Formats: sequence, structure tokens, C-alpha cells
Amino acid sequence: MCFYSHLMAHEIIIHAEGLTKVFTAKTAKVAAVSDLTFTARRGELVAFLGPNGAGKSTSLRMLTTLISPTSGTARVVGRDIRSDAAGVRARIGYVGQLTSGSFSQRARDELLSQGAFYGMTRRDSIRRADELIDSLDLASFANRTVQQLSGGQKRRLDVALGLMHAPPLLFLDEPSTGLDPQSRANLWEHILHLRTQHGTTVFLTTHYLEEADRYAERVMVMDRGRIIADDHADALKATLAGDVLTFGFSDAAQAADAREVVARLTQAEITIADDAMSFTTPEGSRLLPAIVRELDAAGITVRSATGVPPTLDDVFLALTGRTLREAGEGEAAGESDDADGTASAVSNVDREVDTTTTGARS
Ligand SMILES: Nc1ncnc2c1ncn2[C@@H]1O[C@H](COP(=O)(O)OP(=O)(O)OP(=O)(O)O)[C@@H](O)[C@H]1O
Ligand SMILES: [Mg+2]
Repeated sequence: MCFYSHLMAHEIIIHAEGLTKVFTAKTAKVAAVSDLTFTARRGELVAFLGPNGAGKSTSLRMLTTLISPTSGTARVVGRDIRSDAAGVRARIGYVGQLTSGSFSQRARDELLSQGAFYGMTRRDSIRRADELIDSLDLASFANRTVQQLSGGQKRRLDVALGLMHAPPLLFLDEPSTGLDPQSRANLWEHILHLRTQHGTTVFLTTHYLEEADRYAERVMVMDRGRIIADDHADALKATLAGDVLTFGFSDAAQAADAREVVARLTQAEITIADDAMSFTTPEGSRLLPAIVRELDAAGITVRSATGVPPTLDDVFLALTGRTLREAGEGEAAGESDDADGTASAVSNVDREVDTTTTGARS
């Protein structure tokens, strides 16, 4: 059993090689995705980030065989997306970015039809549908027709539909966009449960950076059709962004004295502005108390000390010189834009926390 799960953990479930998609619009060609090459292992939870128009959905649509690549290929759950699209589709779940149209079926029957579509027995379908209705909290509207559901309710049903046949690999394109906080929490609880219980591999896009930061062990950042970063969120933040430490003193002379002391403790570039000193470092939580002690010992009174941990938006800024919000192509579609705004607001709240939380993930 142990040996088996060990094997599973190392099994490659997605292997993309040079995936490229060029759309030909009336007058111009749009290079939506260029040379996407990566592997994902069974059981990984990968968050795929990037501004509007970066090429995330196009990548997912190629990997799920909904559109064919202009060049390059991929093996998904051991099947080639070009030569065995049906084989890929049978082994994956996909929840697209746009909600499916309105149906006159009831939500619960919609789930049962999906089960039948995937060849599940009626009994299994009913058991699974009820499980999902319970865990994603759909009970209050399970007997309403799809066209009667609110946007967020429809989205939750969409996600449930993608999960019906318990696939080993799930592609979710912005599953949490438009969900209220409670529903987002339920969705994440369910995703994490799928991983621990069934070892499900989850590949998802999101504009909620704090979700990616908190839950994904791997973050892939796409910009203008190319992957520009691929690592653990903490590693990305530590190597590309770092904590911003700021110290306040009673006057500029004290700040200048402090600089002498601090320069012995860090290689970072120290900035003095009036009576404040600040610098960026990957090891803020260790340095902050050490610096306060050293300054104290040198007879310099520290009036204030704050440490602001980096966010994934800082990572994107470091990589591209733009924030994720600025980077979206033109005026973004309403929903994604909202999501973005919310994410930033939440990130700002996160930033108020002291540095002891840096690098900690719950
Ligand atoms: N069918 C199409 N024809 C022409 N261009 C397309 C088509 N589909 C997507 N594009 C273009 O390809 C680029 C990538 O789009 P894609 O939907 O993959 O972005 P995304 O990263 O998912 O963005 P968002 O965060 O807004 O969902 C965009 O410039 C988009 O306009
Ligand atoms: Mg998209």
C-alpha cells in the first residue's frame, strides 16, 4: 500500500511538450499560448495564475482536448491529446470558465445525467450526486431547474458536474469566481478532501491569489502565453519578492546610525527616508527581532518595526514590472475583474500581519 502510494506520487499525469496555440482572427494572428512545456505528477495541486488574456483557458482547453494545438502535444493521464482525445476525456474532469447554458432540468437530475453520460450506474450516480449535494451545499436548490439558479448557485452546480465521475485529474477554470465566501470555503474543503481521500490531481486557474498561495503547492504563472514562473508559492515569494521590513526612529540621525548597525546583519539594499529605514529580505521573520535587539544593544531606540510579507502579486511585479491587475488586456471582463479586485483587497489585509507569519501556510 505504502509502496503503491509512493509510486502514485511520482507518476506523471500531465506531460505537455511545446504546446502552442495561434488563433487566426480576421486580420491578425493571436499567439495565445507559446511553447507550453511542463509535467505534473499525480496528486499535485497546481494553481495556474496570470492576467486576463494570458492564455490560461486556452492551455486548459488544449489539455482537455476541447481545441487542438497549433503545434506541440501533451500526454494527459497517459493518453495523447491528439491521437486519443476520447481516452483523455474519459479520464479527466473539466469545469470550464463559462457556465453552461440554462437547462430546464432540475439541478439534481443534471448531476444524474452527467453520471449516466460517464457510464456510471444509476445507483452510483444517485449516491455520488447526494454526496456532492451535501459537500458543496447544494441541497437548498437541488430541486430547482438550472435556469432558476443564481450565478453562484449555477457555478457550484458546474463544479459538482465536473466532479461526478470522480476523475483522477481535474481541470477547473476559475472554479471560485463568483462564489460567496462560504461557498468558496466549501469548494476548497471539497477539493482538499478529494486530494487526501482519492489522490486527485487538481489543475486550476484562479484570480484569487490568496487561494493559490494558501492551498496550492505549486504555482505556475503565465504571461502573454508563456510560463514565467513555476514553483512553490513560498519559494517564489522568497526568491522573487521578500519581506519589506521598515523601522522608525526618533530622528534622521538615529536612522543613519541604525543603518550602520543593520548593514552588518544583511546584504540587502537599505533605504533611509527621513527617520525611517527599510529594506527587502527573504528572511524577514528571523531578521526583524534580531535587528530590534541589536539596535537596542547599540543604544538606538526603535520606535516602530513592521514586516510586510510578500504576496504573489509582488512576485508577478518582480517578474514583469507590472501588477497582475495592470497586466490584464484592456478592460477585463466584469467577473474576472471583480475577482481580481477582491483578491487584492484580501491580500492587503494579509499584508498587515506581522512577519512571523511569513512563509507559514495553513
Ligand atoms: N477563439 C479565439 N479566437 C481568437 N482569439 C482568442 C480565442 N480564444 C482566446 N483568444 C485570445 O487568446 C488569448 C488568451 O485567451 P485565454 O482565454 O486563454 O486567456 P485567460 O488567461 O484564460 O484569461 P482570463 O483570465 O481573462 O480568463 C487572449 O488574447 C484571447 O483574446
Ligand atoms: Mg480564462
